[in-house]
Amino acid sequence: MKTSKKKKKNKKKSTIILETIITTINPDHTVHIAPMGIREEEGCVVIAPFKPSTTLENLERSGCAVINMTDDVRIFAGCLTGRRDWPTVPAEVIEGRRLKAALSHIEIEVKHCKEDELRPKFYCEVKHRETHLPFTGFNRAKAAVLEAAVLVSRLHMLSAGKVDTEIEYLRIAIDKTAGDQEREAWKWLMERIQEFREQETAGEDMV
Ligand SMILES: Cc1cc2nc3c(=O)[nH]c(=O)nc-3n(C[C@H](O)[C@H](O)[C@H](O)COP(=O)(O)O)c2cc1C
Repeated sequence: MKTSKKKKKNKKKSTIILETIITTINPDHTVHIAPMGIREEEGCVVIAPFKPSTTLENLERSGCAVINMTDDVRIFAGCLTGRRDWPTVPAEVIEGRRLKAALSHIEIEVKHCKEDELRPKFYCEVKHRETHLPFTGFNRAKAAVLEAAVLVSRLHMLSAGKVDTEIEYLRIAIDKTAGDQEREAWKWLMERIQEFREQETAGEDMV
């Protein structure tokens, strides 16, 4: 009885996290595109970039951003493999740009920031919401590309064995359910893993 009470107390309240593409404006007025999870807290949309981050710097300076919902997983994989040049169009009510491929987007303004050494939290107010295209349904390969993209963003923190085991499992969904976009995105991510390992080996050889 005592144990179950303790368990309940320690249980963290889960919050839904949506994987999105955040577009912010750089000091030279170009657009910066980065995959990031968002959540809702205290009636605000929360963006939490790990330091260092261009998105973080842009949010601090401009105080606004666009949150893009897209099912084109090449954009997630592309941003993590040096392919950040995706078409954008002007936002409606803020000084920003949204992805042309967005199914829907939200324009936000930063209300306040909870400082943190590793991962500050930006609490944002929604200024505008718009839907552009219909949601066409779940696809396992799209989800697999997202998971692989998260692994690629953490290659420096994960063991090669863990990455290989997870990739092996995710590949099943790619082989069974991917279309051309998902196959292309998957290829970019696999190339990146290969590249990372080659760089690591080259680094070890230098020692
Ligand atoms: C699905 C997905 C979700 C991510 N969510 C976050 C996030 O919430 N915070 C973060 O700092 N990085 C996140 N990343 C990693 C960033 O996209 C990546 O490190 C990026 O380069 C951020 O840095 P930047 O703002 O300098 O571009 C995510 C990556 C993927 C694929």
